[in-house]
Amino acid sequence: MTAAQSNADVAETRSPLGAGPPGAEGALKAIYQRRAVRAYTGDPVPREEIEQLLDAAIHAPSAVNLQPWGFVVIQDRETLARYAEEARMLLLGDPPSEGVVESGFSGNDWLRQMAASADFAIFHGAPALVVIYATNSGGTPDCFLAAENLMLAAWMLGLGTCPIGLALPFFNQEEVKADLNVPSDWVAALPITVGRPAGETPPTTRRPVQIVAWR
Ligand SMILES: Cc1cc2nc3c(=O)[nH]c(=O)nc-3n(C[C@H](O)[C@H](O)[C@H](O)COP(=O)(O)O)c2cc1C
Repeated sequence: MTAAQSNADVAETRSPLGAGPPGAEGALKAIYQRRAVRAYTGDPVPREEIEQLLDAAIHAPSAVNLQPWGFVVIQDRETLARYAEEARMLLLGDPPSEGVVESGFSGNDWLRQMAASADFAIFHGAPALVVIYATNSGGTPDCFLAAENLMLAAWMLGLGTCPIGLALPFFNQEEVKADLNVPSDWVAALPITVGRPAGETPPTTRRPVQIVAWR
């Protein structure tokens, strides 16, 4: 069985498409068909579409409705290219910075080799990047929920997204936060690339659900 078949089976057998309230089918399709997109056309993403994604993001639940998130949107090509190179250089720094060590990157030879290769593009050439910052150190789980909302909404608009955990050490640097008007006590939760997908992205596989207790 191919990865695609196995995922299709999961989607077919587990998602009650058509059984929920009006509109539920689209949301379920988004959940099952969203992909981490790593190839984009050069088309810019219109401002209204980015605004729609941010609005979807802030409709995520948050603990005590604190909404502990703030957003940076980067569409300027020169800034994206410069940040991509600086983020790469940070990852490859020797000795590694504290943030890179904490991220676990330094101990991963496979990732180090990937980042060192000449064609490594940390933002996958996407025309837009949204960085979700937690406005307090306990706010990152809420930001992850906002991130998923954003990615699902993007799929529904025909846009592709990819979370870029590798860029977290970069966006948590004091000088980068200052450059982006981000308060120094905010914590980068997840950068996400956004753009029109260039072609189809095949599904990745999922291991079976592990139920370790059901009492
Ligand atoms: C927290 C987090 C960090 C990630 N960081 C990266 C990254 O730096 N670069 C990348 O290309 N993909 C990154 N991904 C995407 C995953 O590799 C991808 O979601 C996973 O392989 C499953 O594929 P799918 O999203 O298409 O289902 C990240 C995903 C998550 C949730």
